[in-house]
Amino acid sequence: MFKTEDFIFHFNKEELPEQFTTTGEAPSNIAIVKYWGKKGLQLPMNTSVSFTLTKSKTITTAHAEKLSKPHDKVLFSFLFEGKENPAFNKKLKDFFRRIEAYAPYIKHYKWHFESRNTFPHSSGIASSASGFAALAKMIMELEQKIRPENSPEFHLAKTSFIARLGSGSAARSVAGPVMIWGKHNKIKETSDNYAIVWDNLHENFKKVFDFIILVEEGVKQVSSTTGHALMQQHPFKEKRISIAQQRVIQTLNALETGDWELFGKILEEEALMLHAMMMTSNPCYLLMKPETLKIIQSLWDYRKQTSIPVYFTLDAGANVHLIFPASYNNQIKDWLESDLKLDKNYISDYISS
Ligand code: PMV
Repeated sequence: MFKTEDFIFHFNKEELPEQFTTTGEAPSNIAIVKYWGKKGLQLPMNTSVSFTLTKSKTITTAHAEKLSKPHDKVLFSFLFEGKENPAFNKKLKDFFRRIEAYAPYIKHYKWHFESRNTFPHSSGIASSASGFAALAKMIMELEQKIRPENSPEFHLAKTSFIARLGSGSAARSVAGPVMIWGKHNKIKETSDNYAIVWDNLHENFKKVFDFIILVEEGVKQVSSTTGHALMQQHPFKEKRISIAQQRVIQTLNALETGDWELFGKILEEEALMLHAMMMTSNPCYLLMKPETLKIIQSLWDYRKQTSIPVYFTLDAGANVHLIFPASYNNQIKDWLESDLKLDKNYISDYISS
């Protein structure tokens, strides 16, 4: 296991290449056991487990020109889908400040980034997770050029560590198919600092679909940052943490033994507990919409009638993720399009190992 100090970087200016151009991409992820509440600098209050998606990703190109002397802040320009975005610039400035000690070489360059998502921005898919993971991958590619002797294990852990400093859930978007982030007493090698790969998936989970039903597009009324902060004084904080820690173990057991029923039960309980935390925060708030509940109820009815192992989860938003074995793809599609009349209002993605 690596410690924070292991990620501090020392170098000579002469080691840095004159120019650096690269393209990095990273997928989004969907949490099974949710990260909700932080401590310190982007450290999780509880362990989380996620599936890494395949098609929904951020693709970013970076071009860096070496400066004659380092600047005191990172110099950069950033275009998202061809346009400047002041909100992103603020987030990036914070990110660069946080990673300065671990990637000090970034201040020796003038950077230009161009980024796009393969999914609609603010569609409720965690674009900050894929966005910061893609950035972390590119920065670490430069580091790999300077230190080619670094081990692949170190490289992956530090990429996740850097991504985490942009957005917590981004720590889990650097690899797959299943990632665990946050120290767990019963799971070796887990760390609050970065996520680790878990790949003991049973055959039943080798290909899993995620249909993301877009209930609401656009910016959420209450950000995840605010939601995490409200967990500090939450009346159910301690209970939430202990339940999450137990569910991590149950989830891994279900994934390892191929138990869709147990997996689905935890998936749905977690989604509703995440939203229950929001509803019982002080101040309280709601991110689900009437349509969200309608879809959940229809899904429960459909599952009862058909016995198809299709389950839902939610992120910090109104959209519904339907998670099911790939073999049921056509049936679920038919149900969405003919019964729920959702037509094209969903994104089809998958998890594959
Ligand atoms: O990474 P953040 O700070 O946007 O937090 C995301 C938290 C959830 O998406 C709600 C849950 C999770 O574990 O991804």
